Amino acid sequence: MTVCPSCGQENPEIARFCLRCGLPLAGTGTRRARREERRLVSVIFVDLVGFTSRAARLDPEDVQALLRPYHHTVRTEIESFGGVVEKFIGDAVVGVFGAPTAFGDDAERAVRAALAVRDTAAAMDAADPRLDLKVRIAVNTGEALVTLDARPALGEAMIAGDVINTASRLQSAAPVGSVLVGEETHRATNEAIRYAPAPAVVAKGKEQPVPAWVALCEERDPGERPLVGPLVGRSNELEVLRATWERVAVDRRPHLVTVIGPAGVGKTRLAVEFAAMVEDRGGRAVHGRALPYRESTAYAALAFQLKQLCRIFETDSVDAARKKLEDAVSTLLPPAEAKSVTEHLGILLGLDSSGTIADRENLFLSIRSFIEAVARNEPMMLVFEDLHWADDALLDLVEMLAARLQDLPILVMVLARPELLDVRPGWGGGLVAHIALMLRPLDERDATDLAVHRLADLSAEDSVDRAADLAVLAGGNPLFIEQLAAALAETGEAPTSLPTTIRGIIAARLDALPAAEREVVLDAAVSGRVFWRGALERMMADPQSLTTALGELERRGLVTEETVSAFEGDQQYSFNHVLVRDVAYDLLPRARRRERHREAALFLEEVSGEFGEVEAALARHWRDAGDHSRAVDYFAVAAADAERGWAKEHAAALYREALALVPESDAERRQEITRRLALAKAASIHILDARLLGRGDSKTG
Ligand SMILES: Nc1ncnc2c1ncn2[C@@H]1O[C@H](COP(=O)(O)OP(=O)(O)O)[C@@H](O)[C@H]1O
Ligand SMILES: [Mg+2]
Repeated sequence: MTVCPSCGQENPEIARFCLRCGLPLAGTGTRRARREERRLVSVIFVDLVGFTSRAARLDPEDVQALLRPYHHTVRTEIESFGGVVEKFIGDAVVGVFGAPTAFGDDAERAVRAALAVRDTAAAMDAADPRLDLKVRIAVNTGEALVTLDARPALGEAMIAGDVINTASRLQSAAPVGSVLVGEETHRATNEAIRYAPAPAVVAKGKEQPVPAWVALCEERDPGERPLVGPLVGRSNELEVLRATWERVAVDRRPHLVTVIGPAGVGKTRLAVEFAAMVEDRGGRAVHGRALPYRESTAYAALAFQLKQLCRIFETDSVDAARKKLEDAVSTLLPPAEAKSVTEHLGILLGLDSSGTIADRENLFLSIRSFIEAVARNEPMMLVFEDLHWADDALLDLVEMLAARLQDLPILVMVLARPELLDVRPGWGGGLVAHIALMLRPLDERDATDLAVHRLADLSAEDSVDRAADLAVLAGGNPLFIEQLAAALAETGEAPTSLPTTIRGIIAARLDALPAAEREVVLDAAVSGRVFWRGALERMMADPQSLTTALGELERRGLVTEETVSAFEGDQQYSFNHVLVRDVAYDLLPRARRRERHREAALFLEEVSGEFGEVEAALARHWRDAGDHSRAVDYFAVAAADAERGWAKEHAAALYREALALVPESDAERRQEITRRLALAKAASIHILDARLLGRGDSKTG
């Protein structure tokens, strides 16, 4: 069967023209180049219990009538959490989170979606017992090969990998009406979801039983993290904020403060510390967050703040809440104004489902009147968190507040990831009193401090020794420090792969990039932490666009152009964050990696001339390009260089790398390298002895 590259029509093998659009199908060009990536995905598998046997007894139309609303419901739930439905297998539904786009908390979304499906199915069943709707659900997380441009309508699968088979096994083992999850899902979500242990699942084709947990309920709102432990660093930022608050509270000058930084860098923590400072000084601080998904209304973040200002609790009845709102408004505003403000805010707070607001201007006016009235009594701060997830309506509202409030002690604080500036490049521009704080990662000392605390909390061994390495690996990102510390404490040793949560967050950051920039990041990752423009030019179809892409990546803080380059006339760049490089590299499927390594090797051969320094790099590029014989040659040269410089241990390591690549059949070559390895090892032991002696001397002396 040949699929038409233009319209997707399936044509019989003998067809020379597409049956549907007439495009010539002859030649090899008809196979589409598939865009594939290795991605971390969470698969949700939902199946109806005992439906197959029931379906056999029913008329096909009745089966359809039963299944359609159910399928629709499951799909809607999955999509509302940001997942995609991969396929329907009979009455089973398979959904995917983390592909084609990652949001950074994909495993958590998948489990929340599973719980929502569980509850909705139960409600449907209760409403109509004749349906006899009983489900089993599983969520499993793992690496998969993802075809980004798959067309499910043509039966093309988007994901392939063991992760999906295991999800299916877990699903069949799930207790009726419950959600069972696998190990990686549990690890990535156990802070947000409450679990009960379940018996491991014995699965066909698996040596070990698969560990499993039953998901019980949500324990935390999406995007929320507990803030524990002492604050480290950030004294400069807090000083700027303190000074700003003085101007707000004392001079009664409203300010907008925007704190921009990537996920986990500490925006929320900073705002919490600042809010405590504000309250200490007699101000009032209220918080509201934009949610990543399933937001009930556009203004939910503001509604949350208004509730705090009126002291309305989620547990209050509608009547009680309305009463509190009326009281709050009528004590602050004259009766003529109070009526419409109460009405508008009531609608905004979801207390009045029948009313409507004539237009947005009226709504904004009411909000402004109320907030101004509050601020006349006490200085206050409104914190809008995670505004990169807000839609236009909320962004407009915040900008309006920042622009129109006058001569009042109000500070509007906005926390957002850099993506906010993609949708609103001019954010805060034109305002007299706007302060933008770019929140940087912690510096090395503070990061190490934090790592020491976290490792000690988890009573990890050698915490002080390991803290510095961990802080560097995390690139000073406090969230990454916490998660790496947790991974290290769990296994007792440096984890061999990155925690799922970190991979997810970084993958989401890469997915948010424009396509051209993202491609550059993936290709550059093959070169390593440091890369050269020339190598990228070899890999790219359109080298012209490279300048723009690299400039943009630098602006976004992902890469830096270095002032000196190892190769004359070739711009040298480095990734700011080694984890970004690693995650980008992990996304590449093996074939593309090999190809890119080859280009990188050819580039290095071309530019490096006679110098010996790049041999080890060349050896590794050729190895990863699949050309082992060239790789061995380079390893041998690099090792010999190292020996000459009396770096005997390093030489031995290089010989070992070489040896791993020489086939058993090449006895001569193996012998030769083994002999040189032995020599280098012997020499390095002498060096070690000498060093130990030296140390002994200095101790006694
Ligand atoms: N300066 C800091 N000192 C100690 N812990 C911090 C600091 N900054 C952030 N953290 C911790 O790191 C984690 C992530 O911080 P958070 O404020 O939630 O990041 P963001 O809001 O930028 O995504 C939280 O657990 C937080 O307590
Ligand atoms: Mg936050």
